[in-house]
Amino acid sequence: MQTIEQISNLRGEINLWRQQGLKIAFVPTMGNLHQGHIALVEKAKLVADKVVASIFVNPMQFGATEDIGNYPRTMAADQEKLLTAGCDLLFTPTPAIIYPKGLDQQSYVEVPNVSQYYCGESRPGHFRGVTTVVCKLFNLVQPDIACFGLKDYQQVQVIQTMVEDLSMPIEIIAVETVRETSGLALSSRNNYLNKAEKNIAPALSQNLKWLAQAIRSNNDFVGLAQKAASNINIAGMKTDYIHICHARTLQPASIDDKELVILAAAHCGKARLIDNLRVTLA
Ligand code: PAF
Repeated sequence: MQTIEQISNLRGEINLWRQQGLKIAFVPTMGNLHQGHIALVEKAKLVADKVVASIFVNPMQFGATEDIGNYPRTMAADQEKLLTAGCDLLFTPTPAIIYPKGLDQQSYVEVPNVSQYYCGESRPGHFRGVTTVVCKLFNLVQPDIACFGLKDYQQVQVIQTMVEDLSMPIEIIAVETVRETSGLALSSRNNYLNKAEKNIAPALSQNLKWLAQAIRSNNDFVGLAQKAASNINIAGMKTDYIHICHARTLQPASIDDKELVILAAAHCGKARLIDNLRVTLA
């Protein structure tokens, strides 16, 4: 596996593959890789001839109060994991390479509606940062396919919308969330949990399951979501939001909707955890 920092070298390698007619799948990440990321690489390998991953801790998607300096950086261990998973090329640009004019002078991509609510509301500017960097990375890597984890369900919908709205010739593949046996979704943020918080954190996925079951026989979606939020708080977390939504538009679900997703975020100690569960009603 090659690790490439410079855009010109990346383009050179990608051009060689394109000339050979090879299909390229891309897995963008911010590093600190866990089994959830490796599942993306494994999926990418199944659907393409070459797999490109990127590690870039994107300053544009961090809010003013979020400490990008503390974001875990584990490059050597990440390279080892990607190599073992069969990744062909790792792109590791610096912020100066991605944003040579600085963040203030950078053109941006913003997706309306799906990026406005939930995490978009709790983290203003976050999705603008995500779509801008993903658009830029797509233009650099020019993949046929890109793989994203469903743990970040809203992010997947935002990126899918960007690709459709801007006619990008890229297939987005969403890969199932990888969980610990406790049900806790794997996330780099789990590193912030101490032992006691690690025991509390599974209450998030447990209450998603409870809610998914409850809405099968009761269409008081708002009342049931409030009850789940209160259960999560009683367990020792602080619920940011929990909403039952239409699975594609992410609008609050109506009682006629059948394909739903429950989206939730909760603070557990220093970590802000997100999770979701899709539900198909009969
Ligand atoms: O999901 C992430 O790790 C990031 O939001 C992404 C897609 C790599 C963009 O920086």
